[in-house]
Amino acid sequence: MVRSTPSSVPAPGGDPVRIALLGCGVVGASVARLLTEHADDLAARVGRPLEIVGIAVRRAGRDRSATGVDADRFTTDAAELVTRADVVVEVIGGIEPARTLLLRAMAHGASVVTANKALLAEDGPTLYAAAAEHGVDLYFEAAVAGGIPLLRPLRESLAGDSVRKVMGIVNGTTNYVLDKMDSSGQGFAEALSQAQALGYAEADPTADVEGFDAAAKAAILASLAFHTRVAGRDVHREGITEVSAADIAAAKEMDCVVKLLAICERTADEPARPGGVSVRVHPAMLPRRHPLAGVREAFNAVFVEADAAGQLMFYGRGAGGDPTASAILGDVVAVARHRVGGGHGPGESAYADLPLLDMGQALTRYHISLDVADRPGVLAQIATAFAEHEVSIETVRQHHVAVDPDAEPVGAQRATLVVVTHAAPDAALSATVDALAALPVVRGVTSVMRVEGV
Ligand SMILES: NC(=O)c1ccc[n+]([C@@H]2O[C@H](COP(=O)([O-])OP(=O)(O)OC[C@H]3O[C@@H](n4cnc5c(N)ncnc54)[C@H](OP(=O)(O)O)[C@@H]3O)[C@@H](O)[C@H]2O)c1
Repeated sequence: MVRSTPSSVPAPGGDPVRIALLGCGVVGASVARLLTEHADDLAARVGRPLEIVGIAVRRAGRDRSATGVDADRFTTDAAELVTRADVVVEVIGGIEPARTLLLRAMAHGASVVTANKALLAEDGPTLYAAAAEHGVDLYFEAAVAGGIPLLRPLRESLAGDSVRKVMGIVNGTTNYVLDKMDSSGQGFAEALSQAQALGYAEADPTADVEGFDAAAKAAILASLAFHTRVAGRDVHREGITEVSAADIAAAKEMDCVVKLLAICERTADEPARPGGVSVRVHPAMLPRRHPLAGVREAFNAVFVEADAAGQLMFYGRGAGGDPTASAILGDVVAVARHRVGGGHGPGESAYADLPLLDMGQALTRYHISLDVADRPGVLAQIATAFAEHEVSIETVRQHHVAVDPDAEPVGAQRATLVVVTHAAPDAALSATVDALAALPVVRGVTSVMRVEGV
């Protein structure tokens, strides 16, 4: 809903802060419209009017009148536009030409606001270095979790604390698909096509369902949380394409839900295990009582644990034109205030330079469902496989399974064995699953899923 501007807002004087907008799609159109509709309020908050000096697009001649911006402000020459602005807002997306345009903007003295998680996760240090070199701001609140204020709390509000863990649902598409699988019993393909029909998933959903989008966001979160450079390529990534209806059913039996989680964790050195930062994106079972388990449909939420602040939770709309534009406009006001009053926002903070752990070193817990022969000694063989890999078992449940007399030898007995482990290095858990699959008494490993939040 659009709020009318109060007539009592005083019109500040002085030269306007010149804003160049790169991109006028889902997010850019909202940014342009809100900048226009709330011009008086924004001017009062900044202390100077904000003037859109131009909007760069790819296709000239499209009707963009809904933005409220005059047609003569649109251009296809983004490279020229960035040279005549105080603040450049980039909502084109992708690596190029966004990177070149932002570097050019900073070289011409403009501060930058971007929503581009892919670029930040690919080459954030180059952007930070350019911002420092040219004495300008680089803000990117909208790059992770859309409208949810999250990066500023990590970058500024928690700058005096020590963050231990950031765990979140940062991709709305995959959360929508998993939520539908949970509530309807649908398989992955069916839930995905429903999400596509309703506009929650792209025609090409690869970036979402394979976890690339969440991995880029995890890299940004981990970099800020742990003052350590983490790139998208450093993030262990598993998507949701392999999550089956059987996995969802197994989770339900444990009173859990399956969520695609971005997990950034700092561990201390221990005698047998070096500490460091582990950053990973994968599906995991979460107990239904966990605050992230109640995050439904396409919403996002991020859970932060810090030494002094304790547990914090951030929840809201992680995408969409207006929510994302809200985050961008917050950044625009912040950097415009610096233009008017002087000063700068935070630059890159990578001083801690913690080692990055690989996935095998991350401590995780597994839920494993096995289809086994139901006869004496089976449990002992299975327990031995865990013990040989130094994985300790937390619970074991066994259900007898009715055999098909036409398909099984006479007298055959089958059972489903569900094992939940204690935390162990992921490499040891993964090797245990391989060893279990090779046991003659194991007819099949029917579901393997990591467990979080217990
Ligand atoms: N959509 C969301 O909910 C959301 C949420 C958080 C962050 N983001 C991020 O925000 C950014 C934009 O996303 P979006 O969904 O708004 O994208 P979009 O709808 O595809 O819009 C992209 C815009 O960029 C313009 N463009 C493309 N190439 C260009 C070029 N070479 N020069 C100038 N303009 C160019 C396009 O022009 P035409 O209009 O002429 O095609 C279009 O206006 C991405 O980095 C995305 O990751 C999006």
